[in-house]
Amino acid sequence: MFSNSQNSIFKIIQVGFLSLIISVSAWTLAAEPAPAAIKADAAAGEALYGNGDSTRGITACVSCHGAAGNSGSGTWPKLAGQHAAYIRNQLKHFKSGERANGVMMGMSMALTEQDITNISAYLSKQVIKPGTAKNKDTITLGQSIYRGGIAAKGVPACAGCHGPAGAGIPDQFPQVGGQWADYTEAQLVALRAGARKNVQMNAIAAKLSDLEMKAVADYIAGIH
Ligand code: HEC
Ligand code: HEC
Repeated sequence: MFSNSQNSIFKIIQVGFLSLIISVSAWTLAAEPAPAAIKADAAAGEALYGNGDSTRGITACVSCHGAAGNSGSGTWPKLAGQHAAYIRNQLKHFKSGERANGVMMGMSMALTEQDITNISAYLSKQVIKPGTAKNKDTITLGQSIYRGGIAAKGVPACAGCHGPAGAGIPDQFPQVGGQWADYTEAQLVALRAGARKNVQMNAIAAKLSDLEMKAVADYIAGIH
């Protein structure tokens, strides 16, 4: 049997213990990653891509990147079928200046997280219209670099990350197959110079000569 005062001490301990449990479980909940608050709305992405939003100063992406993400020339990259996570990252990098490009910094500045998620979802569902390799003299070289790398220089096979047909891997490696050769070559040059930063691609591009870049870029344009 407990005396009254012993009993109330037990009660205090009990209540204290309970509230400790409650506060610990509340803390655990708070420490869990927030559920994805932003849901992708591809239809809204399509509308913004096609029309822009003059009230917010957003230019229609279609005017450079073409209908459904298939641009008309190598000045502007094709975006059709590109993985959503990659597009999202690049738009954030243009916004922050991490990927320095005057045009795209302006184009991305007014985009919200929701806009970026919507446009990325829309573009990733489109299908790229591949081009063709144009230079017969370098196609063998381009293909051998893409498929097998350059062992003597420690250049890994592009296909090892970007896939045999250049489709890439969602969340990891961008699609490169079917892209305009001019754009691909320009990116390799920027990656070699370090003007565009990416640990893996900076190291790879640093080992490629101008001729090797041209050859592999031309080959890539024709794969899909
Ligand atoms: C005035 C022309 C123009 C407009 C309009 C434009 N872009 Fe671009 N975009 C470019 C150019 C040029 C590049 C290549 C930048 C570089 O060389 O780094 C580019 C690159 C990109 C890339 C990177 C592609 C890759 O493969 O890494 C994405 C993503 C992109 N644009 C999305 C958009 C979106 C979304 C919009 C609309 C909100 C838009 N762009 C509007 C010109 C434009
Ligand atoms: C170890 C994996 C890996 C290998 C091997 C690799 N890449 Fe990449 N590549 C990447 C990653 C990761 C990115 C994305 C960079 C970023 O986020 O800016 C990328 C991006 C690119 C881009 C830019 C695409 C765009 O739309 O702007 C080009 C072009 C490219 N790689 C070409 C090549 C070529 C050519 C080779 C072979 C010589 C090659 N890559 C080998 C991982 C790799």
